[in-house]
Amino acid sequence: MDTSQTEAEQYEHIRTRVFPSSDDAVRVVAAALARLIRDRSQERLNTVLGLATGSTPVKLYRELIRMHREEGLSFQNVVTFNLDEYHGLPPNHPESYRHFMEVQLFKHVDIPSENIHVPDGLVPRPEVYAYCQEYERKIREAGGLDVQILGIGRTGHIGFNEPGSGPDSRTRLVSLDRLTRRDAARDFRGEANVPGYAITMGVGTILQARELALLAWGESKASILRAAIEGPQSESIPASFLQRHPNCQSYIDEPAASELTRFRVPWKVGTVDWKPSLVRKAVVSLAADLKKPVLRLRDEDYSENGLASLLMETGSSYSLNIRIFNELQHTITGWPGGKPNADDSNRPVPANPAHKRVLVFSPEPLDAELGMAGTLHRLVGHGHEVTLVYLTSGNLGVPDSEARMAIGLLNELSENPEGDPQRRKRIRALAEEVDNKKPFDEDSADLRKFKGFIRKAEARASCQVLGLDLSRVIFLDLPFYETGRYRQFRPSEEDVSAIRALCELIQPHQIYLTGSGADPSSVSGISFQLLRTALETCRNDAWSGRCQTWIYAAAERPWPIHEIEMAVPLSPAELSVKLDCLYHHRSQRSQTPFLENQSGESWQQAEHNNRVTAQQYDRLGLAEYEAMESFRRSREPGLAR
Ligand code: GLP
Repeated sequence: MDTSQTEAEQYEHIRTRVFPSSDDAVRVVAAALARLIRDRSQERLNTVLGLATGSTPVKLYRELIRMHREEGLSFQNVVTFNLDEYHGLPPNHPESYRHFMEVQLFKHVDIPSENIHVPDGLVPRPEVYAYCQEYERKIREAGGLDVQILGIGRTGHIGFNEPGSGPDSRTRLVSLDRLTRRDAARDFRGEANVPGYAITMGVGTILQARELALLAWGESKASILRAAIEGPQSESIPASFLQRHPNCQSYIDEPAASELTRFRVPWKVGTVDWKPSLVRKAVVSLAADLKKPVLRLRDEDYSENGLASLLMETGSSYSLNIRIFNELQHTITGWPGGKPNADDSNRPVPANPAHKRVLVFSPEPLDAELGMAGTLHRLVGHGHEVTLVYLTSGNLGVPDSEARMAIGLLNELSENPEGDPQRRKRIRALAEEVDNKKPFDEDSADLRKFKGFIRKAEARASCQVLGLDLSRVIFLDLPFYETGRYRQFRPSEEDVSAIRALCELIQPHQIYLTGSGADPSSVSGISFQLLRTALETCRNDAWSGRCQTWIYAAAERPWPIHEIEMAVPLSPAELSVKLDCLYHHRSQRSQTPFLENQSGESWQQAEHNNRVTAQQYDRLGLAEYEAMESFRRSREPGLAR
């Protein structure tokens, strides 16, 4: 056992450092790599790095590039071996890992090209075995890997070692798991285009590196990380074999760490400071575990379940139960914009002003609708001035088939001989592009714009269902998105000032946003950071002092009950309105059949989440509603009001 481990970390079998943000984590990892490279260079030795792809290491590579440019970090003495490559993709394919590495790192630093090794995706099938052995030999010949950088897939894979990979597995050809292919579908514009096979270093190959650094960001990695770090070692989660390595460390951000025991149930691993938020978490999770309403919890329920210290601090279960019950009760409101002329001392939203200016930010069309369509409907119904801002057009998410259909419609219209010939020409050009496009060709600027129109039209139609005034539905088309592509977004000051200008114009009493726990390189994650920065700069504006900021949950993960600070109930009729609104985003329906245990469509997921939240409130002993949308106040600096 690791003696440097604290009591709180006792369940963790991989040393884990948790950082407030991925930026903080990559700075630490990059600095350690730079130190190693410099020390070894001084001794005229090479540094052999094992590298990974995916969104996770992108920021690390950016930091290394910055150090190369600004701090003279040289890669002349660095030799690299990449973990894996899709089988069947040529190195210049836009989605090949070789291409990814060129764009994200290699072409920006002074690494000699002969020092770079990425498995060749074009090795013919009969030669793969010999090729993989040769790859391993080259690693040995280089002196073995000094450090291997790793991400983790949602199946628990490292490299492409899918569930079923043993700890002794070596570099080889593997077939890709369904969930992995689904996760890659966005990059490949459809699951059908994702290669079925890959060449990957084995778990055994990885374990031979002298040092391992596992990186992970965002709440979508939280549960698999918990299994890999705290669970038993098992082939069903290949990352769990990292526990065997004497020098493996994970570097993760707070959302990714949220399922670890020390964050999930900290009272079970040491003394805790019983802050009100932690008390609520403990009581709610006790009630949920014992399947009892809060008001029926007894003293012995607390003391027999590791919560004796909480009882000591709070006196008796009787007063504690009532306190938490009331807290939960006070989060429920049908008046998300505040209830006029009512006592608001126990309501989440102040009564005044009775008519509020509300600013809702949606990273892409559909995000706000999934998270809070019912609440939007109520806010409009209660007469508030609601402005819905789509930060990006979401045009990258429109499949060609949808564009083809819309072009078909336009063609019908332009058949008219009096139609504008210029317009006809443009439509024809779009039609030709879509018809002749190969799956991996980039869209022209015109086609991308057109796909944006499709999403905007869908968004407007869905807003009409909610009763929103379309003159208050704004498409900001932030430059980071419109000029970027997945994994290559570069947010800038321009994005921040567009958001800031809008806030100054509206001077809202309420702001709604999302993305706090998202992968920081996703559209949602980037949008959240931009909003955070923009709102931080508005901090001293008069309106900002009285503005409440609410965060709605992402479709993939509803807020846990103890974190909810406002729950807006939806009647059966309101839930139908929400679903009607969501159905208008037809270009976003899933392109692939359902996976077991996963609701395939995002609107099914949203409906499910909203129903589950209502059931959880009900089981805790509160009123039984059909469904509920949930919000929490922001705790982020700059957003914390
Ligand atoms: C792919 C790669 C892995 C990577 C994983 C997670 O499957 N082969 O090496 O760790 O994706 O990707 P991301 O970092 O984008 O979440």
